[in-house]
Amino acid sequence: MGRSSGFNPDALGHNAMTIITNLCFTVFVVSVLIFTIIAATYQPEDPLFHPSTKITTFLTSKSNATFRSDDSVLRTGEDFVSANQSTFLTFINITDIFPASNVTTVVSEPIEECSNSIRDPIDCTDPEIFHLMMRLAIETFNDIHFYRFGKPVRGPNLTTCDMAWRFRPKEGKAAAFYKDYRSFVVSRSENCTFRVASIGDYHSGVYARKKQKGKPGGFGPKAKAVQAESPILLPVLGEAVNDSVPVIESESGFSSGKYLLYNGGGDRCKSMNHFLWSFLCSLGEAQYLNRTLVMDLKLCLSSIYTSSRKDEEGKDFRFYFDFEHLRESASVLDQNQFWSDWGKWHKKDKLSLYLIDDIKVTPMQLADIQNTLIMRKFGAVEPDNYWYRVCEGETESVIQRPWHTIWKSRRLMEIVSAISARLNWDFDSVHVVRGEKARNTELWPNLAKDTSPESLLSTLKDKIDAGRNLYIATNEPDTSFFNPLNDRYTTHFLNDYSDLWNENSEWYKETKELNYGVPVAFDGYMRGEVDTEVFLRGKKQIETFNELTRDCKDGINTCSS
Ligand SMILES: *[C@@H]1O[C@H](CO)[C@@H](O)[C@H](O)[C@H]1NC(C)=O
Ligand SMILES: *[C@@H]1O[C@H](CO)[C@@H](O)[C@H](O)[C@H]1NC(C)=O
Ligand SMILES: *[C@@H]1O[C@H](CO)[C@@H](O)[C@H](O)[C@H]1NC(C)=O
Ligand SMILES: *[C@@H]1O[C@H](CO)[C@@H](O)[C@H](O)[C@H]1NC(C)=O
Ligand SMILES: *[C@@H]1O[C@H](CO)[C@@H](O)[C@H](O)[C@H]1NC(C)=O
Ligand SMILES: *[C@@H]1O[C@H](CO)[C@@H](O)[C@H](O)[C@H]1NC(C)=O
Ligand SMILES: *[C@@H]1O[C@H](CO)[C@@H](O)[C@H](O)[C@H]1NC(C)=O
Ligand SMILES: *[C@@H]1O[C@H](CO)[C@@H](O)[C@H](O)[C@H]1NC(C)=O
Repeated sequence: MGRSSGFNPDALGHNAMTIITNLCFTVFVVSVLIFTIIAATYQPEDPLFHPSTKITTFLTSKSNATFRSDDSVLRTGEDFVSANQSTFLTFINITDIFPASNVTTVVSEPIEECSNSIRDPIDCTDPEIFHLMMRLAIETFNDIHFYRFGKPVRGPNLTTCDMAWRFRPKEGKAAAFYKDYRSFVVSRSENCTFRVASIGDYHSGVYARKKQKGKPGGFGPKAKAVQAESPILLPVLGEAVNDSVPVIESESGFSSGKYLLYNGGGDRCKSMNHFLWSFLCSLGEAQYLNRTLVMDLKLCLSSIYTSSRKDEEGKDFRFYFDFEHLRESASVLDQNQFWSDWGKWHKKDKLSLYLIDDIKVTPMQLADIQNTLIMRKFGAVEPDNYWYRVCEGETESVIQRPWHTIWKSRRLMEIVSAISARLNWDFDSVHVVRGEKARNTELWPNLAKDTSPESLLSTLKDKIDAGRNLYIATNEPDTSFFNPLNDRYTTHFLNDYSDLWNENSEWYKETKELNYGVPVAFDGYMRGEVDTEVFLRGKKQIETFNELTRDCKDGINTCSS
């Protein structure tokens, strides 16, 4: 984990402890939780990652003016959809493709008059080849469930067919679909049967990558069923991202709109939690007022996540969050676009501005304002200039923070799924907190000892079978520290996968393009997020606190039970 870049790995599970210590939250707070549909429908499976923990951490901060500094990685909207909710989606069983009595036919029936020569090109649209490929995919990838296959298309040469499919890991708790596309080298034998000689790596079938517009998914009836049965919106990782900034086409479109804009304030360069908590307050107010939120896509990344240890301006919202999803689930506009349109038309169309500089003015008091733009200006004195303060007090029971609009960046999650795919979705994971805490023997007397390779080996012995792939999420910068574990496990670390974000990667290319040609650093927040999410995809997940050590997460005598 990018400890060097400042991510605090205590992040994982940290909040679980916080919630337990903070369980005394009020009925009032609970009512807010109930308002949050996503939270209300969530059924916790793993208390360590109980999402409402996060909300509670936020909420408990309200009594205190200063926001609780918490540099953990956020749970976002998609995490609130319980795995349970989506398990009813039926995946494609091999018997759907090959009825039981036919299951033994691995290769196609020989055709009596087989005129095709071995060297003839393979017709990827041949249903027989499609079936063969689907079958082989299902048989080869044992740790995933398939939900939809796309029709194969001709690959880079005449004997290659590329095919895409939607899948989910069998044991995953995380609610998302994944898309893979691989190339299959198909050969034909003398008796005209087909055979798949090899299947390429994760995302090797680039010719099948694109959604074919207008054409329903290959495995038709099932695909439709999935769509129809699913009332839940889930991200599809691996699908191309289009997070272009929305534009308003016409003058009348712009001038008849109503807008809300938050300006200034002390939220900049704070933790990502703080950012979201404030941002979702502004979005909640905009939705309450039926207005378009004019947002600033440029963020300032707090020094807690940067390798320079300084706050860094000029980051883009889209590096961290799924703007495409936000754009589709809420009415938002980028402020550059907005001001440019405003400049053009506000005089001509007599567009008016309503300015508020007092956080005590509630959204309810603004319900009848007819001005085109409501602008809240925030002062210079912290903590009264935090955006989220607008949503405190009586407003809290009226404004619902629209959590479901916030998903993690699919480009980052794509790295997570690539790592998991390379491990065949069949690995265990352990989170090893060291760093500052291990050095502070006053507050964590046993941590250093308990996370030493020797202790790890003996603790993990009973929990994780020898020979397994073990993903180690850690803030220990020198991963050779864990070498002794190699005797028993095949260990993997985030940095083993740096090709997924280095100069030749798709992530690098796409973020650079978003950033007007300037390369984007894979910063501490991103590292933490990817490390955490890979950890969460392990079949067995071992946490540091409670599981590796009896030391308390927040220091001596802070364990709550
Ligand atoms: C999962 O769904 C089933 C069926 O709807 C329900 O009976 C069960 O209680 C749910 N479990 C959880 C943990 O939500
Ligand atoms: C704010 O936090 C401080 C320290 O944690 C505590 O002493 C104080 O009572 C809190 N204030 C409120 C209003 O809860
Ligand atoms: C596939 O369907 C068959 C017959 O309906 C069933 O016995 C089998 O358990 C199913 N496989 C899975 C993985 O659900
Ligand atoms: C087996 O497959 C053949 C040809 O694909 C088909 O005609 C036949 O009906 C299938 N048998 C069953 C029992 O589904
Ligand atoms: C066709 O392309 C595949 C995948 O790139 C490769 O493995 C295979 O050898 C190629 N076949 C020929 C005949 O070039
Ligand atoms: C066709 O040829 C392949 C490879 O030569 C062989 O494995 C397969 O059994 C043959 N199939 C039939 C039905 O003869
Ligand atoms: C991306 O989405 C926007 C808005 O939906 C659309 O106008 C644009 O054409 C899309 N771009 C591409 C390359 O698909
Ligand atoms: C927003 O729109 C909804 C539905 O059209 C309406 O019920 C509500 O009163 C509106 N809210 C405001 C503040 O205008």
